[in-house]
Amino acid sequence: MPPAAPKPEILASFEAAKGFMPLGEGLALYEAALEAGRLGLPLLEVGTYCGRSAILLGDAAREAGVVALTVDHHRGSEEQQPGWEYHDPETVDAELGVMDTLPAFRRTLYRAGLEDHVVALVGRSPQIALVWNTPLGLVFVDGGHTDEHANADYEGWAPHVAEGGLLVIHDVFPEPEDEFTGQAPYRIYLRALASGAFTEVSATDSLRVLRRTRAGI
Ligand SMILES: C[S@@+](CC[C@H](N)C(=O)[O-])C[C@H]1O[C@@H](n2cnc3c(N)ncnc32)[C@H](O)[C@@H]1O
Repeated sequence: MPPAAPKPEILASFEAAKGFMPLGEGLALYEAALEAGRLGLPLLEVGTYCGRSAILLGDAAREAGVVALTVDHHRGSEEQQPGWEYHDPETVDAELGVMDTLPAFRRTLYRAGLEDHVVALVGRSPQIALVWNTPLGLVFVDGGHTDEHANADYEGWAPHVAEGGLLVIHDVFPEPEDEFTGQAPYRIYLRALASGAFTEVSATDSLRVLRRTRAGI
């Protein structure tokens, strides 16, 4: 059976949204989210940006009858700041002169018709993780790319992946010459495998899907 694909209008919203996820990885994320949704638990993303991948999680959550949550302080990662390679001047708040991707995210979600299926958690990932206490069907790590941020995301959110649930990590580049924003995501991917708590399910370009097969991180 071919993997489930989002409806054309969802794909069109995904393609129209600002963001960093190529279509092939998006489809792999969607498939993982649909599968994880069968556990009947929320799906959570770290790193909303303007909502490109959140569209796919939100649509999969709608299909599964669960909710998608997406965490971001909306001030951008290091490499998205002015002067850096991934900066988009349209994401700057003209009054404050700092990045604010929340308005673009809200427009993305509204246009995709997914406001009832995605909850935005606005703040720093470790602070939100600290007060989080609900098992999750899927955790998608696509936040900051420093070791400090990637490890904090792993330590803060991986413990909440339920038995049989999925941990998805973006921007996993085993070869240093292939990456542009650091290999921290690759290092947390290795850490998850080395923990013995997660087993690899699939690899699609830089997207890795792991399943929790025993307790721990
Ligand atoms: C690579 S972008 C996410 C891309 C998005 N998933 C997409 O599909 O377009 C990373 C995002 O993580 C956010 N971020 C980085 N460090 C964070 C932290 N410690 N807490 C919350 N958000 C953070 C940034 O603000 C940025 O929007």
